[in-house]
Parts: sequence; structure tokens; C-alpha cells
Amino acid sequence: MTFINMITRRQMITRMGTAALACAAGGGVVGGLPRMAASATGDTARILKPAPALAPILTPGEAPVPVWAYDGSVPGPVLRIKRDQMTSIRLENGLPQPTSIHWHGIRIDNAMDGVAGLTQEAVEPGGSFEYAFKAPDAGTYWYHPHFRTWEQVARGLYGALIVEEDVPPAVDHDLLFVADDWRLGDGSNLDEESLGAMMDWSHGGRMGNWLTINGQSEPVFTVRSGDRIRLRCINTSNARTLAFRFDGMAGHLAALDGQPLTTPVMDITEIMLAPAQRADLVLDVLAEPGARLSVWETSTRNALEAGYFQVSSDPVMRTDTAADPIVLPSNDLVEPKLDQAPLRVDLVMEGGAMGDMRSATYEGEVLSIRDLVQKGKVWAFNGIVDRTDNPLMQVARGRTGIINMVNRTAWPHAMHLHGFHFKVVERNGKAVTGSPWRDTELVERNEQVAIAFVADNPGKWLFHCHMLEHTAAGMITWIEAL
Ligand code: C2O
Ligand code: CU
Repeated sequence: MTFINMITRRQMITRMGTAALACAAGGGVVGGLPRMAASATGDTARILKPAPALAPILTPGEAPVPVWAYDGSVPGPVLRIKRDQMTSIRLENGLPQPTSIHWHGIRIDNAMDGVAGLTQEAVEPGGSFEYAFKAPDAGTYWYHPHFRTWEQVARGLYGALIVEEDVPPAVDHDLLFVADDWRLGDGSNLDEESLGAMMDWSHGGRMGNWLTINGQSEPVFTVRSGDRIRLRCINTSNARTLAFRFDGMAGHLAALDGQPLTTPVMDITEIMLAPAQRADLVLDVLAEPGARLSVWETSTRNALEAGYFQVSSDPVMRTDTAADPIVLPSNDLVEPKLDQAPLRVDLVMEGGAMGDMRSATYEGEVLSIRDLVQKGKVWAFNGIVDRTDNPLMQVARGRTGIINMVNRTAWPHAMHLHGFHFKVVERNGKAVTGSPWRDTELVERNEQVAIAFVADNPGKWLFHCHMLEHTAAGMITWIEAL
């Protein structure tokens, strides 16, 4: 049973006769995402309510699917906030289990980071929590629960969080491209039975068989010949690293994980996103009026059409196809200081299927892999399963911290640091310079990757694999910035 066959079969079946329906839905995509401006101080907080809902994630015309959603929609409302302005959002829990909200990638005040059990108590069903924070960096971010994340994200709880530039760049469309791979079971409902399946937890995580973009199957984006598009791509999948190819566009990459690139990467028409990663792509529509430009998901052997851009029959907007690349204003993060006695720790990743971990420490006890599996724990960092009371490292304020990751598992891991952006400074023993800022880095099997950050944001910050089944099965630790 592979993703490749499953998703292909479903999409092949449902593609028959969908063209007309898809066209009818065209244009709805751009305006179809609910938008919500979060409020500034003084106003009452905006409410964000996760609760069971029905979402039209299948082909148009098919019955909506029972999911969990923020404010009834998948993705949840697009939060657009202003840089450095206080934003207030009240979480009201309409779910049958506790939850919290984490603002992924925001260099936030620690108390507002939304990590149940570390920075706040989980919010019980019917309960609420007031988030009030400033986002220091303009860019593309997202929000999701941080309690039973593996289940709550799989059920549909995620949304885009956009921090606007003070002066937005000149584009004709500022579009979201929020990708998710769902696992559907019989009757096109979510496969709930396999939630928590050890088979997924010990392998690559929960892989889906149904791809949606902005909560829709194969959406249509209507554009005009000559348009320039800013496409904010977010991978919200539990575990799947996705890749997208944009046909018929001239593209360049302007930002990764919310942070602008100092020099845009030119001639990009294909991007790869590990779970939780983002990319801001600038796409120039060079095709003739009337063209249909596919977006392909290319991470498996069978490319799937993820959606497409329909170039309207309107005449060409502009003819200067040699427009300058967009250079987004820097957020002025502090560069790691590698020559000023950085604090360096190793993080050895072990466990999982086809790994050679025989035992590890869980809740203070050394357990055999057999006993660990019984408890649903199959991964370890430095021989320790799950987050303990002791941080991986304590870094003095302003000092540079280096986490040297060594992947001794048979799987890639998308490592995410809360509260900071970091730079890769070493890969497989070789120094690396000029890396982009990231908050999530994919570490391939047998790879060694050292990341560096400046501990300028005090608090308790998680460091974990964002393949959410791996997080739940042990790949989670934390650091403390003093
Ligand atoms: Cu996207 Cu610990 O989170
Ligand atoms: Cu992992």
C-alpha cells in the first residue's frame, strides 16, 4: 500500500469530468479563503474557535468531510497582522479534547508560544485562552495546535498567519498555497482508525492519500497574462515532504520560513517543502491569454496535478517581462557569532524502523526497544525519549548556540526550533556559509547538520521533529535561553 498508488487512483477516478466543475469554482479560490484581521490592543480580542466542522476537501460536488477546523474552515481564517503591533486572539476550545495554539515561526514572547505543558496549560474543552503578542518579523507563518498535534493537525487544524511588510512589494496577486496531504479511508472520510498507528509512528509518519491546496482538491487560480504573483507556500502535512513544480511561469524565491533572502534565488520553478516549511515564491505569468498552467506535486514517482493557474483571456497586463526580482526588506535578525565562544551541543537522533537503537531512557528509566514500542515511544535524542525536565542546553542571553544534529536513523527529520530562526553552519563536517534563515530544517538520513542561533529571546523553547508522529513518539526536547 503506497501513497503513490492510492493517491493516483483516487485522483484518476475523481478527475473524470471534473474540469467543468473546477472551472466553475475558479476565482473562488482567491477570494474563497476567509480572511480575518487580528485586532490591535484596546479592541476586544478576535476569537478563534477550533471545533468539529464539515469541509469540502474532496472534488467539488462531493459531500463535505467531517474534520476539525478553526472557525469552521480548512485552512482556518487567514490571520493578517501588522509587524510589531500587539495582536490579541482568544482561543475558545470547541473541541472534545484539550488544545492550544502555537504561532509557528514567530519570534514570540515565550508565554504566548502556545506549547501545552511547557509555556501554558492545555485549554480544556469549553475553556479559553487569551493570546496577545507582537510579531517582530514580516513574512509567511502559520498556526496550529500544540497538544496532540499529530491528531489535531491531521484532522484539519491549521491556518496561515501573515505578518505584513510595512511597505508590501509590488505584485498583482498575493496568494496563499497551503498544502496538506490527508489520509482518507473508506467512504472518503478521514481515516480515523489509523490515527496513532505505530506503523506510521515508527516509519515516516502519517502519510496521506489526498492532496489539498487551500483546503480544496485541484483549485484554480485565475490570473492574467503579465501578472506578477507572490505565492506563499506552506506545507501543513503531518509528515510528508512535498515538492511543487510550476509550469509556464518565470519564478524566483524571495523568502524561506518567513525570512527574506538577501539575494533572491532566480529561475526557480520547483520547490521542496518539508513539513512546516514555507516558501515565498514570485511567479511571473509569461503565458498567452487563455493558457492553463499546471502546478505539479513531484515528490513521488507519479507527479500529481495539485492545481492550476488559468490565464484569463484578457489582454496582456504588461509587457516588461524583465521586471526586477523582488527583494523583501530584511527583518534584521542578529547573525550567529561563531568566533565568540558559541555554546555547542550534540543531538544524536536514534530509533525508528530499520534503526539500531536497542534501548533508551524514558521517564527516567532505561527501557528496551520492545518495552518502548509498548509505550508508543520509538525515537530518542541523545538516548532520551521525550522532553524531560532538563533542557538540551541553557544559553546565556545574546550568546550564540549551536545544535549539532547527527541523524543516525533511516529517516529524514524536519527539525524545528521554536522562538528563533537559525542558520545552517555545517553540513557533513564541512563549514557552510551564507545559509538562509530558517525555523525548520530537513536533516536527511545519515546526515550531520549544525545550526546556529543567537539566544536573544529568553524562555523555554521546544526543539523537535515536525513530522508529528515522530514528535509524539519521542523526538522532542527543549532549550532554555536565559
Ligand atoms: Cu509548528 Cu512545535 O511546531
Ligand atoms: Cu522525524
